[in-house]
Amino acid sequence: MPKSLKIAVIPGDGIGPEITREAVRVLDVVQKKLGTFELDLQYQDTSVDRYRRTGVAMSDEAFADCKAADAIFLGAIGIPEVRLPDGTEVQPEIVLRLRFSLGLYSGIRPVKYYEGVQSRIMDPRIDYVVMRESTEGLYASRNGGNVVHDEIATDTMVISRMGTARIVRAAAKLARQRAAAKGRRGKVTCVDKANILRSYAFFRKVYDEVMDEFPDLDRDYAYVDAMMINMVLWPERYDVIVVENMFGDIISDLGPATVGGMGMAPSADAGDRWGMFQPSHGSAPTIAGQNIANPIATILSGAMMLNWLDERHPGLELKRAADLIDASVAEFVRKKEGLTTDIGGNGTTSGVGDGVIAVIEKAKLG
Ligand code: IPM
Ligand code: MN
Repeated sequence: MPKSLKIAVIPGDGIGPEITREAVRVLDVVQKKLGTFELDLQYQDTSVDRYRRTGVAMSDEAFADCKAADAIFLGAIGIPEVRLPDGTEVQPEIVLRLRFSLGLYSGIRPVKYYEGVQSRIMDPRIDYVVMRESTEGLYASRNGGNVVHDEIATDTMVISRMGTARIVRAAAKLARQRAAAKGRRGKVTCVDKANILRSYAFFRKVYDEVMDEFPDLDRDYAYVDAMMINMVLWPERYDVIVVENMFGDIISDLGPATVGGMGMAPSADAGDRWGMFQPSHGSAPTIAGQNIANPIATILSGAMMLNWLDERHPGLELKRAADLIDASVAEFVRKKEGLTTDIGGNGTTSGVGDGVIAVIEKAKLG
């Protein structure tokens, strides 16, 4: 009997449902092919659209279901014109609530070039991972900022020793794994503005202390402004990048711009107990429902979910399933047939799902 794993699925808004559909089809084919695990999908009505309909974006029951699941799989959330009374958007009520309440401190965002992608900026050597701290930093002040007399507004940066140490440690462990897999030394780059703010200088100090535990890894530092140049002109320098929440949000959009755009940007939000998997991009409302959005970031996020589950449920061939998805996406993209417009083709969302599935079905399991 294949072991069953509970997955809370949040398709969300905009292109969310259509990209989620393709990723779920891919996961389904892979689980049938391997037959060692079964994904028990529990769809959640959690979205900004739900907020618009009912006044509540994510019910407490839905939150409890996410908490009880083995993993959370999310499409995309957001309708820009729907706002909270304070003028901010509604999607943090879902995405940031899950990250903060479930301690999903590692925002793991791989930036990798897949051969076949056509883009204005691209380099086959690009292959690094942004480790975004996702439970503190400037965004920890969400709902806690002040606007005084309609004249002055403040939000406070929150950097703790514990929060910084755990993300640096996670980054260093990832760099170690990558070094072992690639047979070279690993490197962790610390990105901050330690030249200006004490909070970032402290972040860098804790980085240095934790890196003392990893003498096998190279250290590297960059200010976030200089990083904007480096990531475009010398991206091959990077291996693992560790960074505060807001800066991480920003650089994890710049990185994908060098490998074909956000349609190629998967992500994981992982803590010590829970994990949530979603593309790094938003809900792209202007192209929603047209079957033209690129589902690859979501499909690859599904592979990241299986990889993460493998560490918790060994013996179910989940890593093998993840590798199969990744290799099949790579082969599909390499052929340059049926790609969506963002990466140089004129294909469709469902066509990409079909194409990746066709490769998976043909794959020989050694
Ligand atoms: C991301 C998004 C989120 C963030 C939004 C949807 C809350 O931009 O995951 O990068 O700001 O973290
Ligand atoms: Mn973002």
